[in-house]
Amino acid sequence: MKIIMLGAPGAGKGTQAKKIAEKYQIPHVSTGDIFRSNIKEGTQLGRKAKEYMDQGALVPDELTIGMLMDRIQQEDCKNGYVLDGFPRTIPQAESLQKAITEMGQKIDFAINVDVPDENIISRMSGRRACISCGATYHIVYNPSKVAGICDVCGSELVLRDDDKPETVKKRLAVYHDQTRPLIDYYKEAGVLVNVDGTQELNKVFSDITDILGA
Ligand code: AP5
Ligand code: ZN
Repeated sequence: MKIIMLGAPGAGKGTQAKKIAEKYQIPHVSTGDIFRSNIKEGTQLGRKAKEYMDQGALVPDELTIGMLMDRIQQEDCKNGYVLDGFPRTIPQAESLQKAITEMGQKIDFAINVDVPDENIISRMSGRRACISCGATYHIVYNPSKVAGICDVCGSELVLRDDDKPETVKKRLAVYHDQTRPLIDYYKEAGVLVNVDGTQELNKVFSDITDILGA
């Protein structure tokens, strides 16, 4: 099964993508996570990406598209994947379409996790991310068992650099301008499904599994 997650920053794409990956045994491919791990490792790609990410801007397509194409051609993606944070621009969607058509594949679902802007800022300011494994929590809606400590690996939880309110506002503006048009793109392709992302996170997930099937 090949799935794309659509939605504003903080809509819950990553949270749901992880649950989908676990239930359907497919890799969770997050371009944001790949960039963050490159930043942590100090690679050249990471250094370039950080300049854009810290400002709430998109990393240029030239850097992003090739990276994602390499990832989905790896062996573990043969039977499917859930893409989280890609595509984010029409050129990215077109490149993906071309590549998967050449591979004789197709996208099964583009899941739009719908959350209005008003809810986003409070979600982002309460989000905490693990400095080691990248697991994410929310101080109110999805707390770790011990405050400030990752359930998965025991490392420290921090506010992401780009989750400061000013940067979140910029990311939302970029989303409306460049990424939202993908909703119509996938509607026309006949694979778009909408879920109400304002619900409690397990309810959002059960709506998604109703669509994807057992
Ligand atoms: P990326 O990491 O993809 O960030 P994003 O799209 O802005 O999404 P987020 O990770 O912020 O949010 P999410 O929707 O995954 O929400 P989450 O599940 O964490 O990208 C970061 C940057 O990298 C971009 O700004 C860009 O610079 C660059 N980049 C990445 N991909 C790119 C691309 N393709 N092209 C160009 N540049 C790219 O949930 C948010 C919070 O809410 C959490 O605390 C969570 O616990 C909580 N929560 C989740 N669901 C619920 C719920 N139902 N109810 C209450 N709280 C909830
Ligand atoms: Zn961790």
